[in-house]
Amino acid sequence: MSFEFKINSTLSDEEKYIELQKIIPSLINEKENLISNLSNFTAILKEYFAKISWVGFYLFDGKKLYLGPFQGKVACTEIELGRGVCGTAALKKETIIVDDVHKFEGHIACDSGSNSEIVVPIFNGEKFFGTLDLDSYNFSAFDEKDKFYLEDLVKFLAEKIFI
Ligand code: SME
Repeated sequence: MSFEFKINSTLSDEEKYIELQKIIPSLINEKENLISNLSNFTAILKEYFAKISWVGFYLFDGKKLYLGPFQGKVACTEIELGRGVCGTAALKKETIIVDDVHKFEGHIACDSGSNSEIVVPIFNGEKFFGTLDLDSYNFSAFDEKDKFYLEDLVKFLAEKIFI
């Protein structure tokens, strides 16, 4: 199987997300391994958005979050619930957008070049599976549109492969 995507760089972020809503269901196969599916998910997001410096999953092992498939620089391997943006989004059960990570108390800096971040927690019903984390070297790189579409893509993943 081969996938080759021609990304039209003139598309707005919203148009790119709408394309991804069509492509990702064909990329994710629930009969295949979770790690393989999550790896391709991070790869296509990174390929589509130049503003993303790091995109990856922190998965929940029942006690803490641990580093899952990602695209970008080496990152911290474990995050306690309630720590950093990821651990806070997990406890609050809601997406967190951080316009300036230097102003977020307790932000965990894996790459000193990162300036903004969005973290979407992954729930299937009450069951918590982890977080999707996106970083950018730009300030205020993520807004309500990113939140809307990333939550939709994460919901798709939660229902299809996090079961
Ligand atoms: N900044 C995150 C840690 C993970 S890195 O961004 C890859 C946080 O504060 O939870």
